[in-house]
Amino acid sequence: MAQKNKSQKWSGRFAQGLDPLALDFTQSISFDQKLYYYDVKGSLAHAKMLQKVGILTKKDYDDIRRGLTSIVDDLQQGKFEFKEELEDVHRNIETELIKRIGAAGGKLHTARSRNDQVALDFRLYCRDRVMELHDSILELEEAFVVKAEEFPEVVMPGYTHLQRAQPVLFAHHLLAYVEMLERDRERLQDLYKRVDTLPLGSGAIAGTTFPIDREFVAKELGFGRVSHNSMDAVSDRDFAIEIASAGSILMMHLSRLSEEMILWSSSEFDFIKLPESFCTGSSMMPQKMNPDVPELIRGKTGRVYGSLVSLLTTMKSLPLAYNKDMQEDKEPIFDVFETAINCVDVLVPVVLGMRPKEDKMNIAVSDGGLLATEIADWLVTQGVDFRSSHEVTAQVVRYSLETKKDITEMSLQEFQKFSGKFNEKIFDVLTVKAAVDRRRSLGGTSGVNVKKEIKRIKKVIES
Ligand code: ARG
Repeated sequence: MAQKNKSQKWSGRFAQGLDPLALDFTQSISFDQKLYYYDVKGSLAHAKMLQKVGILTKKDYDDIRRGLTSIVDDLQQGKFEFKEELEDVHRNIETELIKRIGAAGGKLHTARSRNDQVALDFRLYCRDRVMELHDSILELEEAFVVKAEEFPEVVMPGYTHLQRAQPVLFAHHLLAYVEMLERDRERLQDLYKRVDTLPLGSGAIAGTTFPIDREFVAKELGFGRVSHNSMDAVSDRDFAIEIASAGSILMMHLSRLSEEMILWSSSEFDFIKLPESFCTGSSMMPQKMNPDVPELIRGKTGRVYGSLVSLLTTMKSLPLAYNKDMQEDKEPIFDVFETAINCVDVLVPVVLGMRPKEDKMNIAVSDGGLLATEIADWLVTQGVDFRSSHEVTAQVVRYSLETKKDITEMSLQEFQKFSGKFNEKIFDVLTVKAAVDRRRSLGGTSGVNVKKEIKRIKKVIES
């Protein structure tokens, strides 16, 4: 809380100091201190440019650099104390700089406003975090590939409508998540281009009268582009919304994965064993092993969606250019990164440690009903059109249900009751193994395909 005095004047413009309640309400230092490293980095580049164009002397610049470096050192060692009455990270650092080096410190803010400064800091921060999230995703992809390679032949039921549909390779199912993660990674690579734009030099709204060199600053900070409209540059937060959007889609994927892990590890499915060290017990029921980690990931998906909606709503009616509302952009984004990176990272050992229960999967997949499509497809190879073959097969399935006889146990005579086209060859395709092996169309579940896929994905990941 701010101290209860009303003497903190923001500037000479004000006859009265800010009410402590207003100060406490409007401050952002409690959370934007996370940006300190980027604030200093941006200031260093700005100061270097000011010297280059002759606004700062060599001595001013050296003093500023020395001052900022000592501030960062103190910050990194936890020796820097942020003051709430200085409102935000920008004024905290600038005020301290002036305190440490005197008048030269006061020249740093030439040709700059907090509006373009905060936009810069936020973009610098986001650039690093986007890369961090991107690299975490890559590791999770690798974990899936390791698992797929470890169990190349395990077959499980594939589901539609959560009803057993057709046999698929466990590895094929895992690689489906790699596809999703690849798209997530692509989305981050794509939005990175739009984060990677330098807003500094836009001033408060209209640019500046000083002869600054924005290209130089962009180069110093490694930005791919420079913004072209000062009003847009200080009020654009699309990049943050894109991050929350890509983060939401990523979390949706992780949540689906989590849901499957939860289902598969239940007694009802009993398809996998999750690593014990990532499960928890119950305080009351000794038999329990709860999948807390996937459950929490599923739960945390909501807060990332919340951040997206929060940012969209904050921005939706803002007149150009900067408005204080935009200070609300930071916490959701901090949370998106923290949540998404934590979730991806914790999933790596869970995926690596999970074990398929092959025997249980075999039982689940042995229901001949899962091979009905094989019968229909085979009849087509005997010259029956698919609609008719589907109808014949439906009658076979019905017969199997009514007589409680699994399709795989039916005799040729029984098959022939439904069509004269049946012969001994039908039994060649009526096995789980054949059902998987024969699905060699591009993207299908056959072992040959999955092996090729693993190779392809490994190459993509390496590049
Ligand atoms: N703390 C502010 C923010 O996060 C910094 C920019 C302040 N600009 C201003 N005109 N009050 O948006």
